[in-house]
Amino acid sequence: MKIAVLPGDGIGTEIVAEAVKVLDVLDLPFEMESALVGGAAYEAHGHPLPEATLKLAMDSDAVLFGAVGDWKYDKLDRPMRPEQAILGLRKHMGLFANFRPAICYPELVGASSLKPEIISGLDILIIRELTGDIYFGQPRGRRVATDGHFPGAEEAFDTMRYSKPEIVRIAHVAFQAARKRNKKVTSVDKANVLETFQFWKDVVTEVHAEYPDVELEHMYVDNAAMQLVRAPKKFDVVVTGNMFGDILSDEASMLTGSIGMLPSASLNTKNQGLYEPSHGSAPDIAGQGIANPLATILSAAMMLRFSLNQPDAAARIETAVSSVLASGLRTTDIWSEGTTKVGTREMGDAVVAAITKTITKG
Ligand code: IPM
Ligand code: MG
Repeated sequence: MKIAVLPGDGIGTEIVAEAVKVLDVLDLPFEMESALVGGAAYEAHGHPLPEATLKLAMDSDAVLFGAVGDWKYDKLDRPMRPEQAILGLRKHMGLFANFRPAICYPELVGASSLKPEIISGLDILIIRELTGDIYFGQPRGRRVATDGHFPGAEEAFDTMRYSKPEIVRIAHVAFQAARKRNKKVTSVDKANVLETFQFWKDVVTEVHAEYPDVELEHMYVDNAAMQLVRAPKKFDVVVTGNMFGDILSDEASMLTGSIGMLPSASLNTKNQGLYEPSHGSAPDIAGQGIANPLATILSAAMMLRFSLNQPDAAARIETAVSSVLASGLRTTDIWSEGTTKVGTREMGDAVVAAITKTITKG
């Protein structure tokens, strides 16, 4: 088995190093190979997703990804920007199903900006369609308007679109995930305004006929944004399109206290996957050794479970993370009075130590 390790930019290199340390101590039969991606790859090879990096990713069973992006690349032409690397990997690997769990650890209830009673025990799963929608729809571009409010003016446009098979397959993913959880799916749309999302709603309803044991609810995206902060525990699995999923998953992450805790998985039809923290490259704190590596470490656990068929090793990582939190260690983002502030490396070391302890205990 082979893992492609793509740390990327900003805090990406720091947090991925900790996840690799954790994978190493598990002593499992796989090979890891690193490559540059994002701004780092652009600097070295003139492209955010060089041929060699893409090939390594495509030829691997799983990709462990850090983060890409830095403000200093904002002026580059769009195809050369770091973000294109992650979009390119999603597209070329066909990673259509994005799992973004939002779980509130009991120790971190106080780190959320919401009241403890609203979020304690929270465990929701956002399933975001990742290769369609307005992110990839063609045509797009800039032109001179021939109609609309200002004919003759410069304008820009993107295309929102979904084909039936794209909706069918993500709907199956959501219903099957719900079956293993609390058997409820909330499909988020904007069917009251958008043709694309009326179609989305109709197709999800059709697929639901195969899952009578799972409850299906439809919700408009504006209402979903509100319900997420009003009564988030009413959700179980949320399934939605690429753009709404991008926005709602950031919102959901904050319910848990820190985006620094949330892993994610992006899978294709062959269970090949890309695993990355839900947060970005945080250039403002890069190089300071203070980033929280737990989202990446937990992403490595998801990778072991979903793509590498090592559920026991995944559970060992997750248990270790819980015990480290219980012992009171916190990176800055989740620190609160009475806990011990540690840096990126110390946090990684603590997880490694907790795993080693469970291994020696048998
Ligand atoms: C995410 C990010 C990406 C997205 C960016 C970096 C292209 O925000 O993974 O949520 O919009 O999908
Ligand atoms: Mg996002």
